[in-house]
Amino acid sequence: MCISNRLPVDRVIADDGTAQWKTSPGGLVTAMEPVMREQGGAWVGWPGVADEDVEPFSDGTIDIYPVALSEEEVQDFYEGFSNDTIWPLYHDVIAPPAYHREWWVAYQRVNQRFAEAAAAISANGATVWVHDYQLQLVPRILRSIRPDLTIGYFNHIPFPAYGIFSQLPWRKQIINGVLGADVIGFQRPADAGNFQRSVRRLLGYETKSARVLEPQSDGSFRPIVAKSFPISIDSAGFERLARQPEVQARAKEIRSQLGEEKTIILGVDRLDYTKGIRHRLKAYGELLEDGRLSVENTTLVQVASPSRERVETYRQLRDEIELTVGRLNGDFGSIADTAVHYLHHGYPREEMAALYLAADVMLVTALRDGMNLVAKEYAATRFDRRGVLVLSEFAGASDELKQALLINPHDIEGLKDAIVQAVTMPVSEQEKRMRSLRRRVAEYDVARWSRSFLNALEESHARRLVAEAA
Ligand code: F6P
Repeated sequence: MCISNRLPVDRVIADDGTAQWKTSPGGLVTAMEPVMREQGGAWVGWPGVADEDVEPFSDGTIDIYPVALSEEEVQDFYEGFSNDTIWPLYHDVIAPPAYHREWWVAYQRVNQRFAEAAAAISANGATVWVHDYQLQLVPRILRSIRPDLTIGYFNHIPFPAYGIFSQLPWRKQIINGVLGADVIGFQRPADAGNFQRSVRRLLGYETKSARVLEPQSDGSFRPIVAKSFPISIDSAGFERLARQPEVQARAKEIRSQLGEEKTIILGVDRLDYTKGIRHRLKAYGELLEDGRLSVENTTLVQVASPSRERVETYRQLRDEIELTVGRLNGDFGSIADTAVHYLHHGYPREEMAALYLAADVMLVTALRDGMNLVAKEYAATRFDRRGVLVLSEFAGASDELKQALLINPHDIEGLKDAIVQAVTMPVSEQEKRMRSLRRRVAEYDVARWSRSFLNALEESHARRLVAEAA
């Protein structure tokens, strides 16, 4: 069973009051949806709108169990504690986290509700996989209600250094909540190391390589695995999609609409301050200003899908980005040529694959990112071995995708040079790099990721049975 804040589908209520389901945004759903479709099982989560009491239903092989949130809980638990406290804190305080006691109260209450919903439908001895920062208290609550369960927790976003994490007024409760799991997964070894250090500093527990030893009342220790399991995508699925004639036709159409002869530079992100969109626009604008690029022969397509639109930091970011795009187009565009095509929409996978196929250069300039699956999707899609990935070293994907042009997005000169290098890269070098990126993404796909996490859970379950029998 899988528990995450969002279900794989969001309930969307139209103006006329009719309701529809559509695919939810974010990396978690991109990764977990194919895994759950393949394996089947229950998925407990919030349907994405306030005050909607939806009955459980089946979506193909997945049994959906909606957990309702009131409007106040959406504000305090989701927009507040999850996305205005934990999110900025765990992304190295790029934006200042806000600490409000009433948000913490809501976070505890909602985590309790998710844990109870999962406990009520789990078979005896079942395996439950809890996902992400919105539900860090669920493992401990679940263990206390259902000690028979084997519990995994995966943190999809970074886990910060102790000096940052320790700002959190409820740091001990959070660490203790996560430690209710048997296996705790992180994106990068550095995240797992940061977590273990916080455990040592805050709780004084011993850690041994990938294990945390939690003292028990009888003097024994419960071993908890805490290590990195870098997440991935359904690579073969993306390639299949890219090979579909309709997707290829759409890619051609995009190219001809943007200008056949132009170099297309692409950015695809949730509109989030962690993604480095401002840095990217600054670098691109300076390249136009310096004359190293021109709108006659390049264009930037920026897809920025709407996200967390009622949180003030996100509103401000949107305003800044839209102002900058407007300036760039005003300063450098002409009737014939547009500097930046800015698209504030979410798109279906088919359209994304067509955009990836059409793009000569993919820009991933995150200031901090757990993994960044867009980088992996781009490589999986490019079966023609063309295209160049410019990738931030602050995205987890840079641990694996070494043949990308790795950049520090804060270093605007370095970013500009990398963009020019990408735009002018000879085809033979593109092919060499892309072949290596694609090999990595094909080998370490999402099925392998989930297998290795679930194997670790199984091993931990087996160890427990042996310990109980002794
Ligand atoms: O993978 C990171 C993640 O934050 C998920 O936890 C989240 O569901 C998704 O991206 C999108 O964010 P949101 O659910 O706030 O729209």
